[in-house]
Amino acid sequence: MFNSDNSVPVRSMSVNFKLPKVAGAMALGLAVGANATQTLTSNHMDHPEAKIAVSTAFNLPDVGGMELAGMAPGNPFAPKLNPDYVFALDRFRDMLTFWVMGYRALKIIGDPAAGKTSIVEQWHARMGMPLFIIGCHENMTETDFIGQFVPQANGTLKWVDSPVMSAYRHGGSVLLDEWNNLNPNAATMLNAMLEGYTVTIPQTGEVVVPHPKVRFYATQNPIDGKTAVQGRYVQDAASDDRFMEMEVDYLPADLETKVVVAAIRKFDKKSEQSVVETTASNLVKVANEIRKKFRANELVENAAYHKPMSTRVLTRWAQLQYAYRNAKGVDPTIYSMHKAFSGASAEMKTAVEQLIERTIGNTTYAS
Ligand SMILES: Nc1ncnc2c1ncn2[C@@H]1O[C@H](COP(=O)(O)OP(=O)(O)OP(=O)(O)O)[C@@H](O)[C@H]1O
Ligand SMILES: [Mg+2]
Repeated sequence: MFNSDNSVPVRSMSVNFKLPKVAGAMALGLAVGANATQTLTSNHMDHPEAKIAVSTAFNLPDVGGMELAGMAPGNPFAPKLNPDYVFALDRFRDMLTFWVMGYRALKIIGDPAAGKTSIVEQWHARMGMPLFIIGCHENMTETDFIGQFVPQANGTLKWVDSPVMSAYRHGGSVLLDEWNNLNPNAATMLNAMLEGYTVTIPQTGEVVVPHPKVRFYATQNPIDGKTAVQGRYVQDAASDDRFMEMEVDYLPADLETKVVVAAIRKFDKKSEQSVVETTASNLVKVANEIRKKFRANELVENAAYHKPMSTRVLTRWAQLQYAYRNAKGVDPTIYSMHKAFSGASAEMKTAVEQLIERTIGNTTYAS
C-alpha cells in the first residue's frame, strides 16, 4: 500500500542509510539530544541500520510483533533515551502513521508541557534516528533556514548550509520547536522544503534535491486556546496547509501517575511502592481537577484558575513534596505546591489549596 517513493509498509520499512561522504563536513553549532558538543555533519545518517521491535522499544505490548527500520544504538545525533517516558497508544499511532506514510511535515499542537517536544524527542531516541531541534524565534532569517557564506582563514568565503538545509540535503528530522514564535514571513521560506520540492540556494545557484528521509516536525500551543501565549503568531494558510496535524493532551491519569511515580523514585528509593503510587495518584487527581477548572474558568467559581497544571509542574510538585516531607511547621503537600506552581497567581494558589483539601484531604507524604 505504501510503496511509492516516499512510503513503505511498516514491516518492511527500509532506508538506505549509506550516503556518500561529502568533503568538508559542516561544523555548525547545533544542539543535538545526545551530546550538545556534536555538530551536524553530512554523514549523520551514515550509521548501521537496525530493526526496532516496537513493543519493547516503546513499551507497548499491545502492538504485537511490529518492527520498524531504525538505526543501531550509538548515533550521536539521536536524542538520549528517557526510560521514564510513557507512550500513550493514541499518540504513538499518530506518530507511526506520519512516519510510515512518508509524509514530510507533522504539526503537534497542545497545551504547555502536555508533551509536544518530548514525544518527538523520545520517538527518535527509540528509533535511534537523528533529530535536530531548532527553537523558533521571531528574528529568524534565511541564515537560519538556508545558510550563509562564512569567511575562511585564507580570505575566501565558503558556503555553509544551515542545519535545516543540511538535514534537507543529507536526511534526518528537524524539530521546529515553538513554531508559532516564528514570524510568518520567515515561515514561508520553509514552504518549499516542507513540501519536498527541489530547492535552489539563491546565493549559490545550487540545486538541492531533498533526501528521501527528511522530516519536519513543528510544535505549538493551540492558537485559539486559552493557553495561547500572547505575542505568538498565527502562520499563514500556505504554511499551515503543508502539515499533517496531531493533538497532544495531558496523559490519561493512569499513565501520568506512572510518570509521577518515576519522578518521585529519582529521590525516594526507600518508600513502599504503594505509598509512592498513592501519593502520585493523589497529585494527578488534583492536577486533573485544576485542568478542568481552567478549561471552564468563565464560570465565576473557577475564575481564579488562569493556567493549567502541566506535567512539568506536577512532577516538580511530587518531588518537592518528598523533599519537604519532614519540614517543621508546614504541610508538605500545600507548601510544595506553592514552590512548584510557578506562574500561578496568589489567588489561584489559595484556590488550589482548597481544592487539595476537597480532593485528597489532609494526605501528606508518608515515607
Ligand atoms: N508521556 C510522557 N512521559 C513522561 N514524561 C512526560 C510525558 N509527557 C510529558 N512529560 C514530561 O513533561 C515535561 C514537559 O514535556 P514537553 O517538554 O514535551 O512539553 P511541551 O508540550 O513541549 O511543553 P512546552 O509547551 O512548554 O514546550 C517534560 O519534562 C517531559 O519529560
Ligand atoms: Mg516544548
